[in-house]
Amino acid sequence: MRYNIEILRRQSPEAENYTENIIYDTDDVGETVANMLRTINSAEKILNNDGKVIEPISYEHSCMQKKCGACAMVINKRPMLACDAFLNNVQINGHIRLEPLKKFPVVRDLIVDRSIMMENLKAVRIWAKQENITLDEETVHISYEAATCLQCGCCLEVCPNFVSGDDFVGAAGFVPAGRLLTQMTVDDRQELADSYKKHVYKTCAKSLACNDICPAGIDIEHVLSASNAVAIWNRLRNR
Ligand code: SF4
Ligand code: SF4
Ligand code: FES
Repeated sequence: MRYNIEILRRQSPEAENYTENIIYDTDDVGETVANMLRTINSAEKILNNDGKVIEPISYEHSCMQKKCGACAMVINKRPMLACDAFLNNVQINGHIRLEPLKKFPVVRDLIVDRSIMMENLKAVRIWAKQENITLDEETVHISYEAATCLQCGCCLEVCPNFVSGDDFVGAAGFVPAGRLLTQMTVDDRQELADSYKKHVYKTCAKSLACNDICPAGIDIEHVLSASNAVAIWNRLRNR
């Protein structure tokens, strides 16, 4: 199979961004975008469609098994994990367009700086002492669900309300927060509940675009509704 790989906004800190087109031939029907990039980069000389020798394509990856979230990028307009994007599934008439995630600053090519997600977790104040946590039958499934968040950022890419640096933290922030909110005792969770209202409840429009895109398959709607219920119940209790 022959694919035309179009990489949008290739860039480095030193240069203007540009579009690169590369022809990629493969017989492997189970090949992923991450594998393809690795194969392209391992060639002695990488040629673009104009026959010009080009630099290897910078992209992030680690586990190659949908476990770390590092390889998230936009593939034919959809944020996805490159190690889980099979060429024959994502191609449109042999064309595959790759772009860096747009809600974060680009470091180089397909690599973005996602440190804002960690800053957001700190802003939401998601931490708790071990003794503040109770796992019971009602909340253990939410805890398990939320713990699979990869911090990949795909949900932020499709969220109409997330702007990097604003108060609202999007699903990447409220999924980990929801895990704690639903498990902490009523007395212990007040600080987190207040911060949840400021950083999540006030701005989330509940459109659930994030729910449909999450590559970890988290039931974000469920985590959101359980967390909202807890945060609002805390407010009513304190009236
Ligand atoms: S909620 Fe899903 S899409 Fe968002 S960061 Fe976590 S794993 Fe990625
Ligand atoms: S429900 Fe809508 S507004 Fe809320 S985090 Fe998801 S995409 Fe964003
Ligand atoms: S490389 Fe870890 S999720 Fe893709």
